[in-house]
Amino acid sequence: MGKIASSRTKSRNSLMDWFNQRLPVTQFYKDHLSEYYAPKNFNFWYFFGSLALLVLVNQILTGIWLTMHYKPDADQAFGMVEYIMRDVPWGWLIRYLHTTGASAFFIVIYLHMFRGLLYGSYKKPRELIWVFGMIIYLALMAEAFMGYVLPWGNMSYWGAKVITQLFAAVPWVGDALVEWVRGDYLISDATLNRFFALHVVALPLVILVLVVLHLAALHTVGSNNPEGVDIKKHKDENGVPKDGIPFHPYYTVKDIFGVGMFLLIFLFIVFVKPDMGGLFLEHDNYVPADPSSTPEHIKPVWYFTPFYAMLRAVPDMQMGALIMALAIVVLFFLPWLDRSPVKSIRYRRWPYKLMLSLFAISFVVLGWLGMQSGSVLQKLMAQILTGFYFFYFVWLFFYSRNEIYHEVPERIEK
Ligand code: HEM
Repeated sequence: MGKIASSRTKSRNSLMDWFNQRLPVTQFYKDHLSEYYAPKNFNFWYFFGSLALLVLVNQILTGIWLTMHYKPDADQAFGMVEYIMRDVPWGWLIRYLHTTGASAFFIVIYLHMFRGLLYGSYKKPRELIWVFGMIIYLALMAEAFMGYVLPWGNMSYWGAKVITQLFAAVPWVGDALVEWVRGDYLISDATLNRFFALHVVALPLVILVLVVLHLAALHTVGSNNPEGVDIKKHKDENGVPKDGIPFHPYYTVKDIFGVGMFLLIFLFIVFVKPDMGGLFLEHDNYVPADPSSTPEHIKPVWYFTPFYAMLRAVPDMQMGALIMALAIVVLFFLPWLDRSPVKSIRYRRWPYKLMLSLFAISFVVLGWLGMQSGSVLQKLMAQILTGFYFFYFVWLFFYSRNEIYHEVPERIEK
């Protein structure tokens, strides 16, 4: 018995050796999992990176299966989605996993980004992680926008029209640019075809490459943590950070718990309320695209509405498009706008806590305003909150220069 077991171990080892001599699999496993030392105090906010990976895999897999039954043809697209929902075995499930996955992706990403703000994870030496993250966010917005056009519902059509029209705001070449993006003078079959190509091939590839770079940059400098202290400063005689624990098994197990909790909520929505009362799947998109019938309120899906509210807050379209673009661009510069040496909010004083809370609240309220019809009062609110959104960054730049903060401990005590 013992002999058989030892000969099995031997052959497994020699198989591993065979691989390792050709590709350092074991070394990779050690460097990034079993001997990757992460701070021992990760909390709730640290679930969202692995959840973003999970949702990404869900989108890719369900997307591949949807593509098997869909045709990017303006005459057939709407019908193909109906066919997937009614006739393809389990088609409804695959589609709801994909549509709910899109909203879940943004929920997870917004929480993941907010964690960065809470703990100053964008600060030196993690600026590149943040910048790659921001490029992912942009690519994700393009991916979601193009995916939304594919079912060729009426909101797909009019949404595509409004958003592509924004390129007209670019000086001199605007109109030519709109035509180039659409591939036609109007939103048409040509537009649907190119959006399909970008949605199923180009952008997923870009996102995957960016995620690899994001994680490579993270593993080069190591993770931040809720205390914002550098665990590499205190190492034991073997060079292991004293406040670090191996990612595997400690955080793989913790992340599996997070995945379980996430799936409970996610699957509840998929099976019980996949349209979320029109929030995840809009009612106007159950009507086929019709160039002669404008929906009563043209509005994007919830995850774009904070920026949409900013666009509408400005009377001039060109100005509005610029403000909207700036609202995203300014986030790229966060690592250089926040000049405080302290990372975690735990050691920053009340002015920062108050301003960050107001910033988060105004972003959420702008999101709500972007879904409303846009009354005079709502427009005024959107103007004030858009102003505050930008004021926050200006305030941060000056405030953080000479910020007074609490003393940051040398090591993680809790
Ligand atoms: C497909 C999208 C994304 C995936 C799959 C992803 C994945 C991850 C993972 C697995 C981690 C390590 C675990 C964790 O810290 O939670 C991480 C860390 C990080 N991510 Fe992302 N991420 C994505 C998008 C973003 C975006 C949009 C941003 C911000 C603009 C961002 C900023 C960061 C930062 C700053 C860290 C380091 C956090 C720390 O060490 O405290 N990520 N990401």
